[in-house]
Amino acid sequence: MPIYPYSESTVLITGASRGIGAALAHAAAKHGVRTLVLTARTGGDLEALATKLFAEHGTRVETIVADLADAAAPAAIKAETDRRGLNIDLLINNAGWGTHGTFDTTDPAKSRAMVEVNVQSLVELSHLYLPQMIAQNRGGIINIASTASFQPVPFMAVYGASKAFVLSFSEALAVETTEQGADGVRIVALCPGGTATNFGDGMLRGHFEKTRQHTPEQVAEETFAALDKNTPVAVVGTANYWMTLSGRLAPRRTVAEVAGGLFRPADLPTKTKNKPDVLRKRFGVLATVLGATIFLVIALFLRRRQS
Ligand SMILES: NC(=O)c1ccc[n+]([C@@H]2O[C@H](COP(=O)([O-])OP(=O)(O)OC[C@H]3O[C@@H](n4cnc5c(N)ncnc54)[C@H](OP(=O)(O)O)[C@@H]3O)[C@@H](O)[C@H]2O)c1
Repeated sequence: MPIYPYSESTVLITGASRGIGAALAHAAAKHGVRTLVLTARTGGDLEALATKLFAEHGTRVETIVADLADAAAPAAIKAETDRRGLNIDLLINNAGWGTHGTFDTTDPAKSRAMVEVNVQSLVELSHLYLPQMIAQNRGGIINIASTASFQPVPFMAVYGASKAFVLSFSEALAVETTEQGADGVRIVALCPGGTATNFGDGMLRGHFEKTRQHTPEQVAEETFAALDKNTPVAVVGTANYWMTLSGRLAPRRTVAEVAGGLFRPADLPTKTKNKPDVLRKRFGVLATVLGATIFLVIALFLRRRQS
């Protein structure tokens, strides 16, 4: 069931200049939204996308250039949408980025900017646009989280933690809005796995880059499907979904080690493995497989009971 007639809605998308954000803009235009508000730092790419969307779908597109690493940016975006008379019905917090490598060698300024973009700006924009949605009992927020939201991610420690925040924050808001009686407001945490964009170009030098990736268009379609079905947490892809479940019963340390194996930089010197380490790892992998199997059995059992 669609959220409300898309043809009457105004959708604000952050990080819309390329990748998943640009695909979300295309999907929103295809769904027939009345007005799109696209924001990112690269004004030229936003303008080119606006021209394309108008030519292909006749969508009115407004662009706002803003750097979300700047703490003043969210308020400036809100002031600009107010000045242009744009009442935002759907906010899609998509802008995000990550660094790869050991934490101790990461530039602290990069970590600060990442938290500002991935976490702080998302919270701030939600503060600025959600109250009116609740007052009108109409609208929604989609936060682009990640499969990284479900476990610690060694070698992308700040990024993984930022996405865990996004998931937790979104799930809490979804319950809060319902408890407030604002059942016309939908909050979705959309969790893509590896997606073929410029994200982390040349940085994922572990095993992860060899895994199958979704296209940004697939992610965008799943996003609108989740919004239409009012799914509070949607993981893109069945394999990714099971992967997010598999870690729930396994020891936290093991889950972190398995994730660390995927993201380990290729140039990191190999650690000498001692026997207890190897045994603990083997036990951990076994526990993870066991956890996934138990979840599968429970899920199948519940499904059979429902049908
Ligand atoms: N690709 C994946 O494998 C993957 C997986 C899971 C989750 N995600 C999440 O999906 C979202 C989109 O990522 P993507 O894969 O599409 O990456 P991308 O191709 O690198 O696009 C990132 C977008 O964010 C914008 N952005 C980055 N820093 C910004 C800043 N300081 N201020 C304003 N905008 C900024 C960029 O625009 P400008 O550079 O023009 O500012 C760009 O439009 C992110 O939240 C990411 O964490 C991606």
